[in-house]
Amino acid sequence: MAIYALGDLIPTIHPDAYVHPDATVIGAVTVHAQASVWPQAVLRGDYGTIEVGERTSVQDGSVVHCTQFHPVVIGPDCVVGHNVHIEGATIGARCLIASGSVVLNGSVVEDGAVVGAGAVVSFNGHVAARTMVLGVPARVREGHEVPEDMTSGIVATYVANVRTFKANLRRVD
Ligand SMILES: CC(C)(COP(=O)(O)OP(=O)(O)OC[C@H]1O[C@@H](n2cnc3c(N)ncnc32)[C@H](O)[C@@H]1OP(=O)(O)O)[C@@H](O)C(=O)NCCC(=O)NCCS
Repeated sequence: MAIYALGDLIPTIHPDAYVHPDATVIGAVTVHAQASVWPQAVLRGDYGTIEVGERTSVQDGSVVHCTQFHPVVIGPDCVVGHNVHIEGATIGARCLIASGSVVLNGSVVEDGAVVGAGAVVSFNGHVAARTMVLGVPARVREGHEVPEDMTSGIVATYVANVRTFKANLRRVD
């Protein structure tokens, strides 16, 4: 598994979390219980800290990086889809950060919000709770309140994936 200490910065992976062998986790990264990190995801906690909340998935190809001034906090029950880039941002609980989106330094995405596929939340952006933002730069989808249980199905699937992959993944090449 590609989990690296950087000097005194040592990742903390909860025993009930899952980090795929082809993910890369470096430095001051904390992965909480039942959270998961999928192939080719990179979490680089060199300049600051990165936290992945309980039951949150960071899916294939996503890149999470912090800066000296902006740690990354991703709350519980979030879905960080494929090929997402999160840089020095704070993500609340139950958020969907959809495939190919970018959330930049100093941004705050509040609880239950959705960053749509391919959207870019600019520096110091703010996404209010239960809102959906779309596009480049990301704009609020007016008149649309995100359902309270938006991520619950995907979160449950990924918690099940944690168990399945811990028990059954094996390399055959
Ligand atoms: C954001 C999202 C949830 C919207 O889904 P939805 O509520 O079903 O939206 P609809 O498809 O009904 O589209 C509603 C409107 O938003 C637009 N829209 C939808 N997704 C958009 C996106 N990602 N970017 C820009 N516009 C988008 C549609 O064109 C439509 O516009 P219109 O009203 O002018 O016709 C969906 O596009 C998305 O990003 N899903 C994430 C999938 C994912 O990443 N999963 C993670 C892996 S498990």
